[in-house]
Amino acid sequence: MDRKKMTIAALQKKKEIGEKIAMVTAYDYSLAVCVDQSEIDLVLVGDSLGMVVLGYDSTVPVTMEEMLHHCRAVRRGVRFAFLVGDLPFMSYNTSREEAIRNAGRFLKEAGCDAVKLEGGLEVVETVRAIVEAGIPVMAHIGLTPQTVSKLGGFRVQGRDAETARRLSDSAQALEKAGAFSLVMECIPDKLAGMITRSLRVPTIGIGAGPECDGQVLVSNDLLGTYDKFQPTFVKQYARLYPLIRQALADYAREVRAGVFPGPEHVFPMEKKELDRLTGGTRRKKK
Ligand code: KIV
Repeated sequence: MDRKKMTIAALQKKKEIGEKIAMVTAYDYSLAVCVDQSEIDLVLVGDSLGMVVLGYDSTVPVTMEEMLHHCRAVRRGVRFAFLVGDLPFMSYNTSREEAIRNAGRFLKEAGCDAVKLEGGLEVVETVRAIVEAGIPVMAHIGLTPQTVSKLGGFRVQGRDAETARRLSDSAQALEKAGAFSLVMECIPDKLAGMITRSLRVPTIGIGAGPECDGQVLVSNDLLGTYDKFQPTFVKQYARLYPLIRQALADYAREVRAGVFPGPEHVFPMEKKELDRLTGGTRRKKK
């Protein structure tokens, strides 16, 4: 069957017929090509790139220019998946105009299909303004890494009835404001299930259990290319870090031992040309 480009309508349809949605992050061209060929539905250029690609301690320092740079690279590799760019901290929090302008840059300058932004009731009007400007928005509630210090650290959200109700109210309001989908990060599975069933738009969970309409993972966590802290909700489908380290160590050893490059890695010169060259050199020396 001919594969078609993923659309918001197709994502909506998946929710209606109970077909789960697979989403993953990507930050560069070569992984984007691989992700696209793996029939992933949605690709997120997350601001998690600040930590896993740029080496910052949090997502807070990530800039618009850094996000756009990586979104452009991923765009060049993705043909079929729906591409979402993450609005970085303080790119949508100062004013509606600034939020619309920055969201628009993801579509105009990086070719994204939509933007994602973090927050609950406090960002509802921002979401509405961006959507009214013609830009699809994916919302993100629960553990919102950009405001993690306000939340008191990387911890599960919505464990008590009061905060759970606030998350549920946020989800309803974000859908009403026009969000086409909702990421729920680190919230109890039953709460995620209740919110999922109460919404028309698809929910995407990360640390939110199996009752969401879809799942998202950070590609570095999923592939095991990252040697740091591993959240308990992550499933590692590969452990590439030790393989990559071994390959690099083997390379360094072979270079030092003169084993690489071998005869199969060189560009030979025809003997006739070599003779002409060395003859020429000899003549020059005389
Ligand atoms: O930045 C990111 O990668 C994210 C996902 C974890 C949802 O926001």
